[in-house]
Amino acid sequence: MSPTEKQKEKPEAFRAPKGMRDIVPIDEPYWEKMEGVTKSTARSYGFSRLEPPILEAAALYNKTSGEESELVLKEMYTLRTKGGDLLALRPEYAPGICRAYLEHSLGRVSQPQKLFYIGPVFRNDRVQLGHYRQFVQIGFEILGGQNDPIYDAEVITMARNILSELKIKNPILKINSIGCRVCRPNYKRQLQGYYKNHEKELCEDCTRRFATSPMKLLDCKQAQCQPFKEKAPNLLDKLCFACKAHFRAILEYLEEVGASYEIDSHLVRGLDYYNRTVFEFFADGKEAEIGALGGGGRYDYLMEMIGGHALPALGFALGAERLIDVMKAKEIAVPPKPQKRVFLAHAGTLAKKNAFVLREKLLASGIGVAEALSRESLGAQFKVAEKEGLSLALILGQKEVYEKSVIVRDLAAGTQESVLIEKVVDDLKRRLKA
Ligand code: HAM
Repeated sequence: MSPTEKQKEKPEAFRAPKGMRDIVPIDEPYWEKMEGVTKSTARSYGFSRLEPPILEAAALYNKTSGEESELVLKEMYTLRTKGGDLLALRPEYAPGICRAYLEHSLGRVSQPQKLFYIGPVFRNDRVQLGHYRQFVQIGFEILGGQNDPIYDAEVITMARNILSELKIKNPILKINSIGCRVCRPNYKRQLQGYYKNHEKELCEDCTRRFATSPMKLLDCKQAQCQPFKEKAPNLLDKLCFACKAHFRAILEYLEEVGASYEIDSHLVRGLDYYNRTVFEFFADGKEAEIGALGGGGRYDYLMEMIGGHALPALGFALGAERLIDVMKAKEIAVPPKPQKRVFLAHAGTLAKKNAFVLREKLLASGIGVAEALSRESLGAQFKVAEKEGLSLALILGQKEVYEKSVIVRDLAAGTQESVLIEKVVDDLKRRLKA
């Protein structure tokens, strides 16, 4: 066979799909930290986990995130089942959480329901810095109960606390109120009236959205639309009395806990279901380029959109990969947890069998074990122990097998002693505790 024929025969080298990444062992400390902080924050604020399936009916997102939203129009991955159902890989969590809330009548259990989640979402986004096609969202939602601004302040404070636990200092909080059913229609008409004079100068997306979602024009990032945004009527001046009072109360709560914020009257968010409060967090400095670290807001009308009653609801989601990107860029160290493990070494075939059995005994007693049982030379085995950074080793040789003992070696101090197998678990527990 010629070399070119051989090359032709070489199986294709597969790569992860564009915009989707493997979580590799070197990043494990970041993910562990992220999960740990999420779960401990959830526990301390009284949130329980709800994980909807990754696939949901595509119509759920059309109805809530918005048929005109970028998310639904351009970014949703859909598939047709053999039975003919149109499903979507979830592009976000909030609609699925609300669907599950209704499906399981969670409102009857207690009010409000405080729910959290951590899992992958999928968006056919343009791949660039901070934009992936599969990424993990960490989110918290409060459903039901009173329409109280204290909850808005609570979720914002939680997001801030998570960033602080991850050592992401001085995050920038942008916040706005986009009004309600009372004040928004009027504002939309005013906005359309204003933009009508500039219709021909707008980008393609804004021209399309002008009639149906005029507020999205405030969020446009295209250079040609920026001058019009600046002079557009400000919704904050047009809020109804109730929305104004709600927004003011949130800001007061935030001030009470010393949370700084920037009011951004152009912040409207890309999803259709929001009302009143919307907010986003960014890293400070040049890492702000990575994009929003998290965002959320109130969505009191979402339940109605999917067949429930109007229900006070709000929440936020953080993008885990963006958090990790910022932590890496800012060189925030995530030290691996100290290891409560011992290294198990053997010399000889009989000792190997005994080591195999001893490992099971140690694991059953809650002692973690590192080993290189497939390596025969002690030197090679200890190289692995060194690489793992372990300071305690057990050595089983022919002599130890016959004496029903094991050598316990303190690798850091260079000392060792012989311990009877029946006493080794207690001995190790004592040493590991020390
Ligand atoms: P979102 O702003 O679309 O909101 O996404 C939340 C976060 O997910 C963003 O702030 C960002 O950190 C991350 N993210 C978004 N797109 C990407 C991407 N392509 N690659 C990497 N990370 C990304 C929502 O999804 C709402 N469901 C949040 C919410 C919950 N609102 C109320 N409750």
